[in-house]
This record gives sequence, C-alpha cells and structure tokens, in this order.
Amino acid sequence: MSTMRCVVAGQNGGLQEEERAIPEPKERQVLIKIHATALNRADLIQAAGKYPPPPGATDVLGLECAGTIAGTGPSCERQWTDGMRVSALLEGGGYGEFALVDERQVLLVPDDQTFVEAAAIPEVWLTAFQHLLLVAKAQPGDILLVHAGASGVGTAAIQLAKHVFGASKIFVTAGSQEKIDFCKSLGADDGFNYKTEDWAQRVLDATDGAGVSILLDPIGYPYVESNAKAMARDGRWVFYGLMGGPPSDGTMAPILQQILMKRIHLLGTTLRARAPEYKAELCNEFVKATFDKFADKTLRPVLDKKHFEGLSSFQEAHEYMKSNQSMGKIIVSLL
Ligand SMILES: NC(=O)c1ccc[n+]([C@@H]2O[C@H](COP(=O)([O-])OP(=O)(O)OC[C@H]3O[C@@H](n4cnc5c(N)ncnc54)[C@H](OP(=O)(O)O)[C@@H]3O)[C@@H](O)[C@H]2O)c1
Repeated sequence: MSTMRCVVAGQNGGLQEEERAIPEPKERQVLIKIHATALNRADLIQAAGKYPPPPGATDVLGLECAGTIAGTGPSCERQWTDGMRVSALLEGGGYGEFALVDERQVLLVPDDQTFVEAAAIPEVWLTAFQHLLLVAKAQPGDILLVHAGASGVGTAAIQLAKHVFGASKIFVTAGSQEKIDFCKSLGADDGFNYKTEDWAQRVLDATDGAGVSILLDPIGYPYVESNAKAMARDGRWVFYGLMGGPPSDGTMAPILQQILMKRIHLLGTTLRARAPEYKAELCNEFVKATFDKFADKTLRPVLDKKHFEGLSSFQEAHEYMKSNQSMGKIIVSLL
C-alpha cells in the first residue's frame, strides 16, 4: 500500500478527506501507523484557516497520535523495530492513517496502556509539564490557579502539580459544578465557577489574601484584571491561550500597575513552534518524571466520555469540542 487517507482543512472551517502518498521518513524521522489520535483547539483554529502549520510541516491536521512504528529514516539513534507501540507529539499529521515525526518526540507506550489512552497524552501533558518545569519553574509548596481546569491541559496540569511538582494547593476555574468536582477528583483542592462567582476574590479568601504563586491561563484578555488580583507577589503568570477572544475596550493601566508592583512574571509560551532540541529535552524530562507514576496509575490520561471512530467522524468531533462540553481529551480511533 503506497497511499493513505487523511483529513485536511476544507472550505468554511470544515474538514476534507483526501488520499495522499504515505510519506517517506527523512533524517531522524520515524513513520507511525496511527491507531488513535486526539483533538486539540489548535485543530479548530487551523481548520478555520487562522493557524497555518509551521514551515515544513504537513497540512494534514492533528498534533498527536498513538500507533505502531512502520518505518525509520536515516541516522535514527534510538533502536526502533516495526510494530513497536508508541505515541508522539506531532507538528501535524495526526488526522491520517500514517504520520512522520522526529524520533526525539516519540514516547514508548507501556504494555498495559491502550492506544486510546496513549493518544491522550503527548500534546496536553507535555504542554502542562513544560509550563510547570521550564516556564513557571514550579517548586514544592507553590500555590496554583488553573483556568479551564477540566480542559485537556488543565486536567494534566492538576495531576502534575500535585503528584510530580509538590504543589501545596491547587485551585481551578471551570464553567460548571460538574467540571469543578471532576477537577477535585484529579487532585484540585477547590474550584470556582467563573460564570457565577468572583473567582479572584474567592482565591484571595482561600489563601488568606496572599494569592497564587503560579497561574496557568489559556483565556487571556477577559481575565487579565482578575488574574492580577488573584496573584501573589513574585507570581509566575503562564499565558498560553486566547480562548476568551479579543480585548474588550477600557484601560489596562491599573492592571499593568499591579503587574509592576507585584513583580508578576507574565510568561507567554507556545509549544508547536519550539525547536526539535527543546522538544527532545522536554520529552526526556517528561518520561523521567512521569513514567513510574503512569505505571502505578498515580497519573492517568483523562479521556472524555464521548469517543469518535473513523476519519469521517472528525467534523462531528470538532463540533463537540466547540460546544465546550468535554472534560479531558476527545479521542478519535482510526483502527
Ligand atoms: N501555547 C501552547 O503551547 C498551547 C498548547 C496546547 C494548548 N494550548 C491552548 O490551550 C487552550 C486549552 O486547550 P485544551 O486542549 O486543554 O482545551 P479543551 O480540552 O478543549 O478545553 C477547553 C475548555 O476551556 C473552557 N473555555 C472555553 N472557552 C472559554 C472562555 N471564553 N472562558 C473560560 N473558559 C473557557 C471550556 O470549559 P468550561 O466549561 O470550563 O468553560 C472548554 O471545555 C486552547 O486555547 C489551546 O489552543 C496552547
């Protein structure tokens, strides 16, 4: 077989199935036969034509996958054999039957982990791990506020903060009590419904006025003022998404004053465009810090209750993600 089916951005934010040649692995790349993939918000933005893939990356959608090794390129340094069970952080290509990836962004899948579980790990767990280890430089005793706590990144961040980085308190915001309770089941100490509560004040009350030392923020503009209020002196504010949309009018001056007076570190970050060496180091550190904890089930990939099957289900899966009902990762099985 020399061709494969895959999904790319179509007209008006829709998706389109195509037949393409199975790509040939190049320098330090492996070819993966995909069994399962997972959705990310970046896929929705790419499908809408607003987030082109980085230079050199395929236009096939999908930032992660789990499957089996189906080929290796020249100069690979790791010992690969066809059929090995792996997952991977992709620049693109997850919505297809096969994908190429740099061998340094490949994680081995333990025997007792399914492809569905493994597909839920690379993008959101490596993103959350990066935020805590490399960007916020989390230390034991840190107090966290995790916005969108029941999201893919949020559910990974809660577990990592509690079981790997030794956070002393973890607070979340989410849009329903069900999601807050779910976050507590993963290790959050308390949560606030951003639709009905003054969460910044609740965070200050819960920390005796001190505020949080690390804030993980994928919302952006609508939260800026409340974020500044909820943060402690010398806090690290990791800003990694804009789900709240564009800025409303009004002055930002008092907010900037708080950022200044509290010496808040506002840390913007993206993972996809980082250099292969950075991602390789991130994957190494992630495996060292989490392998045993996934094995004994202290950490677990979080799967949404809805599960999709087949290339033709991506459109429906995108609509489901847009509805904000999910908790954890939305998986699409391809085999
Ligand atoms: N910078 C990076 O490197 C990087 C990497 C990965 C992901 N991201 C970004 O991180 C964000 C989260 O990704 P994900 O895959 O974890 O998301 P997800 O699993 O799809 O969950 C997103 C959740 O966020 C909440 N939400 C959506 N719009 C909101 C708003 N306006 N205000 C408050 N809450 C809102 C919704 O839950 P509620 O019911 O609680 O509202 C929604 O279910 C996305 O923006 C994504 O692009 C960035």
